[in-house]
Amino acid sequence: MAYETILVETRGRVGLLTLNRPKALNALNSTVLREVVEALQAFEADAAVGAIVVTGSEKAFAAGADIREMQPKSYIDMYMEDFFSGWDALGRVRKPIIAAVSGYALGGGCELAMMCDFIIASDTAKFGQPEITLGVMPGMGGSQRLTHFVGKSKAMDMCLTGRMMDAAEAERSGLVSRVVPAADLLDEALKAAAKIAAFSLPAVMMTKEAVNRSYETTLTEGLRFERRVFHAMFALEDQKEGMAAFVDKRSPNFRNR
Ligand code: CAA
Repeated sequence: MAYETILVETRGRVGLLTLNRPKALNALNSTVLREVVEALQAFEADAAVGAIVVTGSEKAFAAGADIREMQPKSYIDMYMEDFFSGWDALGRVRKPIIAAVSGYALGGGCELAMMCDFIIASDTAKFGQPEITLGVMPGMGGSQRLTHFVGKSKAMDMCLTGRMMDAAEAERSGLVSRVVPAADLLDEALKAAAKIAAFSLPAVMMTKEAVNRSYETTLTEGLRFERRVFHAMFALEDQKEGMAAFVDKRSPNFRNR
């Protein structure tokens, strides 16, 4: 499939999606949205893919939603189109997605990274929700997800001042899982994805579902959900294989990958 604004390839069992609108610093317009959703759904449907990496360029993961596209719109346009609701499709991808972020991840770029399951950042990464400087506020989940990631005080600071956070601060505050040198970013993200893709895919998908559940429910309900899913895993042949391999002191050969 030929795309206009993204590049798509597979590396072993890893699906790699690269945002590719260099002249606009990967600003997320409706073509990018449509293509990202299509590509992720294709990876989701492809049994040969076990994990996904979403990345941008060295200078910009994505500098936000496309301001030029939004600028002429009225309230009724935004409301009737349910603008940005297309991004909700990312929440329905059940395979794990790693965001590999270098350079600017601003506005919708930061929000796209946060829609992924975890973020690996290069030491040049800069995160921010600068919508306030445009007379608006985050619209792709930033006011909610950033608050979950970094807490109220820092989320308020970021959303109300529009300032950027560097990679060290992002790691300190729990927004990113690790920071690596810029030159190693893609390799590190692909390595992490390949590691995940070598595990039992149903176990990986259930784990993702359980961690995500913690954002949507009470602790009691979340613990109950975890226990039920954990019990259900004993119906997987990969549980038999994984535990037998440990007991036999050998590497597991997971079949459901
Ligand atoms: N939308 C559209 N075009 C964008 C863009 C965006 N979000 N960000 C950058 N561009 C374009 C610029 O207009 C410019 O295009 P031209 O060469 O045709 O003028 C090109 O990308 C390069 O950008 P700059 O010349 O500005 O590059 P720079 O290195 O001087 O600055 C930057 C980089 C600090 C990231 C700056 O581009 C910038 O501030 N961009 C906007 C960031 C922003 O406000 N993002 C939030 C968008 S709103 C949003 O995302 C809403 C939401 O909640 C989802």
